[in-house]
Amino acid sequence: MALALHPHAEAHGKAIVLGEHSVVYGFPALAAAVPGSLTLRAAALADPRAPSTLRFPAWGLELGLDARSEHPVARACLEVLGHCDGPLTGWAIEGDSRLPAGAGLGSSAALTVALARLALGPQAPVEEVVAGSMAGERVFHGEPSGIDSEVAARGGLLRFVRGQAPTPVPLVAPLTLVVVPSRVGRSTAEQVAKVRARVEGYPTLARPLLEVLGRSVDQGIEALAARDLPRLGEIMQIAHELLSALSISSPVLDALCSTALRHGALGAKLTGAGGGGCILALPGPEPGDLVDAFVAEGYEPLLVELLP
Ligand code: MEV
Repeated sequence: MALALHPHAEAHGKAIVLGEHSVVYGFPALAAAVPGSLTLRAAALADPRAPSTLRFPAWGLELGLDARSEHPVARACLEVLGHCDGPLTGWAIEGDSRLPAGAGLGSSAALTVALARLALGPQAPVEEVVAGSMAGERVFHGEPSGIDSEVAARGGLLRFVRGQAPTPVPLVAPLTLVVVPSRVGRSTAEQVAKVRARVEGYPTLARPLLEVLGRSVDQGIEALAARDLPRLGEIMQIAHELLSALSISSPVLDALCSTALRHGALGAKLTGAGGGGCILALPGPEPGDLVDAFVAEGYEPLLVELLP
């Protein structure tokens, strides 16, 4: 077991551009990192046998990482540290993030990736960091596909298939995305279970929807390569409607997508598990107008800029 944590680590958030839920069934997905999203710092406590602590003011968290704790964040953190052979006691960990927690932007993967990095160090192979993160992600989400951990650890724009190493997707020009948190909470595990119920109850109806969602990913990547943003926007629209047919959207998310389209977005869809969480909009030439429209309605949109 490592005796010390490293003093500092970072991880990205993520926004799924295409392929959420179908990725759970082995189809590809496309996800973008929300860069510089989460930071952890670690300092040794005076007593190395005292339970470690996690303070995360931005998320209102102040926890003892005690083996008896039933708090999912404490349990997940201990799983990550255990998996990475990190010290289980004796450390004060302090976190900060611009990601809202539990909103579909990969906050739990960012936390677990950064924690794995505190334990494994900055030179650790990314595969080991992802494996450490997944030990914690399973506490939060059951059997996640792993896309959140991969993006949190690697950054950039990635095409991901469950069980395979992700492929970076090259950009021919900068890409701006607008993420809008709905401020409605939801559980990823419950949303994944909802889709499973559809697939089991209506296999011949729901399976083809998942297949088409999977197919939308490579068509979206082709549109990006051709810099055909109107086409990418339309593919995102189709994906939102398919996700709705799988019972994953909500009236709030549909309303946010309509607002985005009314204010010049080329496409808008739910992103992540749905039910609440966020939408992702592809802005037209004036992303500022779209951002202003959401701010005027009291939302706090996040601008995600991806560079070639
Ligand atoms: C959650 O960010 C994405 C889902 O596809 C679940 C998963 O991939 O594990 C809904």
